[in-house]
Amino acid sequence: MIGELAGKTAASQYENQMLVMLGEMKKKIGYVYSEDYIRISSLLPSNKGRSEIVHRLIEAYGLMPDLVIVAPRQASKKGLALFHDEEYIQALLEEKESEIFGLEQDCPVFEGLRQYVILTAGAALEAANSLLSGEVDVCFHLQGGRHHAKSDEASGFCYVNDICLSILQLRKRFARIACIDLDIHHGDGTESAFYFSNQVLTVSLHRYCAGFYPGTGSIEDIGKGPGKFYNLNLPMERGLSDENLKKIFETVWSSILHNFKPEAVVLVSGADGLAGDPHKEWNLTEESFEHCLELILSESNLPCLILGGGGYHHPNTARCWTKMLASALGKKVSEDIPEHKYLHLYEPSFSLKIEKTSAPDLNTESYITKLKQTQCIAKHMSLV
Ligand code: FE2
Repeated sequence: MIGELAGKTAASQYENQMLVMLGEMKKKIGYVYSEDYIRISSLLPSNKGRSEIVHRLIEAYGLMPDLVIVAPRQASKKGLALFHDEEYIQALLEEKESEIFGLEQDCPVFEGLRQYVILTAGAALEAANSLLSGEVDVCFHLQGGRHHAKSDEASGFCYVNDICLSILQLRKRFARIACIDLDIHHGDGTESAFYFSNQVLTVSLHRYCAGFYPGTGSIEDIGKGPGKFYNLNLPMERGLSDENLKKIFETVWSSILHNFKPEAVVLVSGADGLAGDPHKEWNLTEESFEHCLELILSESNLPCLILGGGGYHHPNTARCWTKMLASALGKKVSEDIPEHKYLHLYEPSFSLKIEKTSAPDLNTESYITKLKQTQCIAKHMSLV
């Protein structure tokens, strides 16, 4: 018990130091937002109402006045075509059900799809533009992170691959971009888009086993041609804990920063690995997400795009992303959820803290050591 309390005190001291440091750095933090975009994104069938719940919590914590608002504009067909194929764009804009383009089953045509597509792509481009122009140092696009969409196909609740759009736009000025994806599902759309590139390093940490969507993400898939060693897959077992995510991230981030030397960073913060998520696979809390973000922001001055992704326990997703946003601002926020329209969703704890479950972490010490020695990480580490 005493050990546990000491641990908590040390963690809280570390958090305070980080907040002071981030506060002193005075980075300009952008937030992609318009009421229209919140309303339209809330229509997404896989996450009905989530954008609204997340945004209202951020608002309730009084974070809005400290943020630089990046208003999404409507993307043109040319904007969408930066990544997507013309025929696919046409099918999306015509809201046409189509087996060929994957517009069925988990990606159904829904009322508002056209507007959703135009605004999501426009938001992705504006988020990148805000970093390109130096208007902001860090930009949060929490409706983004739709990593399963391919250039010609909707997949896994993803219609527009905003990650690829943002990266391609960022590439107009930044030569090397690192994209780190913490969503529980493999970032297959992003991987395939940059599989042959040595300028975009894609890293995906995900659950990987027979029958788990999308079924890709083997440790053996390391990129091809010039892209060999520039795609890193980190398949994880069930029960992943904050402690192990932090350990793995520290190794990976240090390797990326010192060896790949990116000029910009994209962090996909899919929240479906949080404790409480209906997937019931991992046991993460806001603490490890905050830690990963703080490492990126405190150890580099790189332009940074923070995206959302999955996350099907909506109040926990809101807790996690609000904490990350507050942390980027260098603000310590109260653990008591403020009174607002959705306060009832946070019962019984009414706390910003996410409760872990008692599920064991099956990612053993020896497995993590083995992961760190994979060909891809070893290759990057050996460049030191
Ligand atoms: Fe996911």
